[in-house]
Amino acid sequence: MRADMRPERDSRPPRQDRQPYGEQRGRGRYGEGQERPRYGEQQNGAFDRNGRGERRFQRPESTVDAATALRERVAELGAQITADYAGKDLLLVCVLKGAFAVMADLSRYIRLPLDIDFMAVASYGASTKSSGVVRIIKDLDSDLSGRHVLLVEDIVDSGLTLQYLLKNLRGRRPASLEICALLRKTGIESVPLDVRYTGFEIPPEFVVGYGLDFAEKFRNL
Ligand code: IMP
Repeated sequence: MRADMRPERDSRPPRQDRQPYGEQRGRGRYGEGQERPRYGEQQNGAFDRNGRGERRFQRPESTVDAATALRERVAELGAQITADYAGKDLLLVCVLKGAFAVMADLSRYIRLPLDIDFMAVASYGASTKSSGVVRIIKDLDSDLSGRHVLLVEDIVDSGLTLQYLLKNLRGRRPASLEICALLRKTGIESVPLDVRYTGFEIPPEFVVGYGLDFAEKFRNL
């Protein structure tokens, strides 16, 4: 990974230049009468907002832009999850291999004592399309009963993989079971899924990097 792409907390700007979770406030960068851009719209241009005020992904101009947008959004998700799960016994379940990158970053933005576990799945079928027939290659070490489980996924495409996983994990009687997906493709036929935390909605194109592969390559981009 190139140094300029690394999503390190240390690479954030000095504290007075950081943006709070919401719009920027109290800075002199935008003059009188100039409209202050909303959080995420300035600098990298990697996302804007749809009519409902939700983030909508725009093609970033460079990998550095994408890295910045990812880091900021994952930090926001971490803050949201921290608030939602305060006082609860949280278990993060990483769906390998694709979710390893978001899991590593997200877990460090969640300011709670939590457990982490991993499961590896593979879907049968062509390399760029999920068949919905999922094979568990590595199962969890943890017992889920009575735990608050948050499933961390890289991307929801047809939703078939998650549909299978939810059914499987629900049978293990967790206290709660929610999904955090970094990316969700829109404008495609997909199974209805209640994804509690979504990083970005993206167009239905095949994407790689930040854990996502094509034929096992490019996860490191
Ligand atoms: P689904 O079952 O169609 O939702 O597909 C989910 C899985 O397919 C993800 O966990 C990824 O492993 C893989 N996948 C779906 N879309 C992409 C993509 O655009 N790039 C890389 N992998 C993808």
